[in-house]
This record gives sequence, C-alpha cells and structure tokens, in this order.
Amino acid sequence: MKVPWVYISDLSKHEGEEVKLKCWMYNKRSSGKIHFLQLRDGTGFVQGVVVKGEVTEDQFLAVRNLWLEASLEVTGKVKRDERAPSGFELNVTGISVLHNPTDEYPIGKKDHGIDFLLDNRHLWLRSASQLAVMRIRDRVIWSAREYLHNNGFLLVDSPILTGAIGEGASGLFEVPYFDLGNAYLAQTGQLYAEAAAAAFGKVYTFGPTFRAEKSKTRRHLTEFWMIEPEVAFYDHKDNMTLQENLVSYIVQSVLQHCTAELAQIGRDTGPLERVTPPFHHITYDDAVIMLQKLGSTISYGTDFGGEDETILTQQFDRPLFVECYPKKVKAFYMKQHPEREDLVLCDDLLAPEGYGEIIGGSQREESFDLLQKRIRVEKLPEDSYGWYLDLRRYGTFVHSGFGMGIERVVAWVCGLPHIRETIPFPRTIYRLNP
Ligand code: 4AD
Ligand code: MG
Repeated sequence: MKVPWVYISDLSKHEGEEVKLKCWMYNKRSSGKIHFLQLRDGTGFVQGVVVKGEVTEDQFLAVRNLWLEASLEVTGKVKRDERAPSGFELNVTGISVLHNPTDEYPIGKKDHGIDFLLDNRHLWLRSASQLAVMRIRDRVIWSAREYLHNNGFLLVDSPILTGAIGEGASGLFEVPYFDLGNAYLAQTGQLYAEAAAAAFGKVYTFGPTFRAEKSKTRRHLTEFWMIEPEVAFYDHKDNMTLQENLVSYIVQSVLQHCTAELAQIGRDTGPLERVTPPFHHITYDDAVIMLQKLGSTISYGTDFGGEDETILTQQFDRPLFVECYPKKVKAFYMKQHPEREDLVLCDDLLAPEGYGEIIGGSQREESFDLLQKRIRVEKLPEDSYGWYLDLRRYGTFVHSGFGMGIERVVAWVCGLPHIRETIPFPRTIYRLNP
C-alpha cells in the first residue's frame, strides 16, 4: 500500500498510522544509535526519531551526514507524545534525501545581528518565530476582511499608479509614464475610496502603499499595506466607532486562532485581552497638556513625534483615540472643526504599550468651496483634483474613513520592537534586497 503524504498540521488525524512527510530538517541531535530530527514543512514542526536498525544502514548513515535545511521525504509512524509541542512524534521507518546542502546553513544557533538576518531574509523566513509572525499577519488581514465583509463593506481595488497626490507632495515615488510625464506610486487609496463610497456606500480598499519619506524609525517602511474603509454618511464619531470595533475584532480573532503562535514568540496576551470597546479618547489640546506635564518638550500646534505617542499610550491600558489635531499638521481633505477653524475632525488611534499610531482617520471636507480653498492654500496641482472635487459637485455627502497600517498592527499584536519583521520582504530606505 502506498504511504499517504500528509502535512505536519494534520498528524493528529493519523495517530498510529504510517505516513509520509515532505519536509526540511530544521535541527538535529544525535547520540550513537539514535537521531532526533526536527522536521518542518511550513504547516508546523515535529520530531522524527531515527533509531539504528529501524531504517536501513544506508539511511542511518545518510542522516548522520545531513546539513541543516536538507530537503527530505520521511516516512514514519505517528505516535502521540504529550511532551511534544505538536502533541505528536514520528517514529521514522524510512528516509529519502531530496537535497543535502554542500555546506553549513548560514543561519545557525548563535545570535545573529539584525542586518545579517535581514540580508538573509529569504532564509530567515524559515525559522519558527517567523512562521508564527507570518501566521499572525495572515490572521490580522483575514479577520479585518472578514469583519468588513460581514458588515456589508464592498472591497474596491484602487490604482497603484496615480496621477493625483494623496497625503501631500513630499514623500512620493515617481515612475516615468509614457508620454504623460510622471506617475506616482499610491500613498493611499483614499481619494478613490471616496469616489467608491459615493457609488457603493460602504467600501474599503486594501493594497500596498508607498512613502518616499526618509524616516528611519522602527515604525516606518517605504512600502506597507493599508486597509482603508470609507463610509457614506458616517461622521467623525461613527468613524471612530467603526475603528474601535474593527480593531477589537482583529485582536480577539488573533487571540482565538493564534494561541500557539503568540506563545512561540513569547507574547504576553494580558494587554491584548483588554482590547475591547470602549477605547479611551483625548483631544489633541488635552494630549499636549498631558505630554508637557509628563516632561515632553512638545509645543502646541506641532505634530507628535514617536516618543510623544509612546509616552501617551503608556498612560492608558487600551487603545487611545487622539482627536481633532491642528489643521496645519494634517492632510488637506480633512473636515474643518465646526467650532474651531484651526482644527480638523480627525483621529489618530494609538496602540497601547508604547506602540503608537496604527490608524489615521478623519471626516472628509464635503464643502466644495472649503476643499478648493485648501487645495489652493496647500499649492496642490488643482488639475489633478478635478475628479475629486466632482464628488463635492454632484451630491456631496457627509463621509468619513481611515487607514490602518497592517505592519503597525502586526508589530503591536506580536509585541515586536520593529515593524521590519512583520512583512515578508521589508522595504526601507536602506533596503531593496532580497
Ligand atoms: O495616517 P496616514 O498617513 O493616513 C492616510 O494615508 C489616510 N489617507 C488614510 C485614510 O484616511 N484612508 O496612514 C494611515 C496608517 C498609519 O496610521 C499607519 O498605521 C500606516 O498607515 N502608515 C505606515 N506604516 C508603515 N510605514 C509607513 N511609512 C507608514 N505611514 C503610514
Ligand atoms: Mg497618520
């Protein structure tokens, strides 16, 4: 009878049976008559026990000469083992070596520096901790889409090559574009999401976004993934309620489905369990006063730095909305505050434990005249915004939306110090390879 090929994650369904794994050798410990192989196939890890006499002499010798990350086909009997992390062990009955590397695997047991690991990102991805982070990333994205889909949102794909400018003229990547001059890589899908909201009501865009800022912080990538809901007839308050519900849903979903992954990376889940509505709220005005009392040198009217956000979030036990920033530090499309001409109806959602901004959102300026004025004051190319102004010309409407950076959320949920580990192949100002 042919031995069936199974995945490590499915071993529990095959207790007592003989199965075949197609896998890599993640680690090996040997004593004279027995080899303990740590095997991985992308779905999980399992120990394979190779006992002299239970495989052929050739196979036993071949195992002795295996380098880490050799690719293998391993047959064996599935045995329950309460001490094993997966709950199972494989009593190996046969091994065929698909490829044995000719030398030592670059990533060894010793502590490597971050630059070395990033240079070897294509290999580093194979480690148990990176599998855990990528699974959590997958769950963050999956649960966000699930929440939006279940709540009547339509996914609208916005263009990556754009003629208009999103968040401001600084930090744009330019791409030569035939006879039309330069195109820009999208900084945001928002302006298109606004057009789609007028067409379809509740929508979201989800895709890669690009910022050519020279930010070297632990929170910035030049290419990151953003999910951007936009809702017709939602005001500033409705917008924050949606953010609170979405973020809570994502965190609770990770807690429910990624227990093993969170344990693998040593994440303390206590602070995540508290992530349920209602979140805290503070105005920009009050936040500045609080920061100054806590020793920050921030002056009123300027944007918060990463340090300020860290200090603020450490005062609260769950996410914090900072509302109504000065107009001059925020994007042109934000709606002017009804009582304070110098402020806009916006919010930044700051993740706790020092993580800071994960979402930027706002009610949008629906007045044609005010929006046109802002475009002129900011000296944006008015021609490119003709279609955007049309949304205020034909049935203008109260509407709001926000952008949630996937990598920032994953870093926070995983408790990682830097966002470069939250995306398979990070792009920063210093890194285009691998
Ligand atoms: O605050 P931002 O710049 O807002 C916008 O782009 C709006 N158009 C969103 C909207 O209203 N539809 O970016 C939103 C979020 C930030 O809160 C952060 O999570 C993430 O995108 N983000 C970055 N993530 C990684 N690297 C960067 N350089 C980022 N810039 C923003
Ligand atoms: Mg922002």
